[in-house]
Amino acid sequence: MATAVAPKRFLKIAAPDFLRDLDLTGEELAALLDLTADVKRTPRNYARALDNKSIALLFEKPSLRTRLTFELAIQQLGGHAVFCEGPIGAREPLKDVARNLDRWVNGIVARVFSQETVDGLAHWSSVPVINALSDLYHPCQALADVATVRERFGKLKGLKLAFIGDGNNVAQSLMLSALRLGMDFALGCPQGYTPNPEIIAQAEGLAAVSRATLTITHDTDRALEGAHAVYTDVWASMGQEKEAAKRKKAFQPYQVTEELFARALPNAIFMHCLPARRGEEVTGAVIESERSAVFDQAEYRLHAQKALLLMMI
Ligand code: CP
Ligand code: NVA
Repeated sequence: MATAVAPKRFLKIAAPDFLRDLDLTGEELAALLDLTADVKRTPRNYARALDNKSIALLFEKPSLRTRLTFELAIQQLGGHAVFCEGPIGAREPLKDVARNLDRWVNGIVARVFSQETVDGLAHWSSVPVINALSDLYHPCQALADVATVRERFGKLKGLKLAFIGDGNNVAQSLMLSALRLGMDFALGCPQGYTPNPEIIAQAEGLAAVSRATLTITHDTDRALEGAHAVYTDVWASMGQEKEAAKRKKAFQPYQVTEELFARALPNAIFMHCLPARRGEEVTGAVIESERSAVFDQAEYRLHAQKALLLMMI
């Protein structure tokens, strides 16, 4: 006779939506990382958790990892995903889109140009809304990234993560999540490409509480000194294509080459959210090296987003 698997209980996230990293409390983030590890270890235990649930994916921008890992996560938890690509609020007002979806689905995952769009969807619908990348944040990526580092080093507190490149959505989310978990965070970026000042102020507040250090510098040596993980991302994000030539010039000294990577600790790992532009922000040798963790990060998108869905929906 088959033994029934006892239904799992999860800490429910208190915030109704996951629009920015700080919508999770420190305790919720720690619980989510534990659940992520369990989901990775025993995926079958969660196969019915989203039975009879439908989730809409609204994407204004292209995606490989985020779209597929959300669709797979929802399917593997027993739910259904429906996908819609295109600008949100162009054919009809955003508030009407949100109030339609509210009647059909149990959750919304949205990739948007402007943070205001995902905030608006959350305002006008009663179902949980998850930010799948905006101009300001990429919080689901940060969850997978900290889970990857934790698996590699067996801890997070006391480690240093150096982000070399643009103070963009990925950097801003990672800065908040890493500091909240007690990791030191350093950003090495050209002048004019530092993160949003309000997000820096929040990060400083988190660093003071977790006693971690936050360094924002134009000096790559300073950023990389003592780093356990070296992270980079594209120089021109989606929507910034017109600035690509100007950015290429400004960011050239920030390319993660083998020489630059060697300034971090000898056992440091290389990280990138992908897609990567080999020969721009990183060389082929670094991204293909044994110390590259980029596909572990991609794998963790699936596990971490499953944990997030379990704790929200
Ligand atoms: N890292 C990431 O979000 O990849 P996609 O743009 O392919 O979703
Ligand atoms: N910063 C990049 C991340 C892509 C996953 C962008 O916004 O295009």
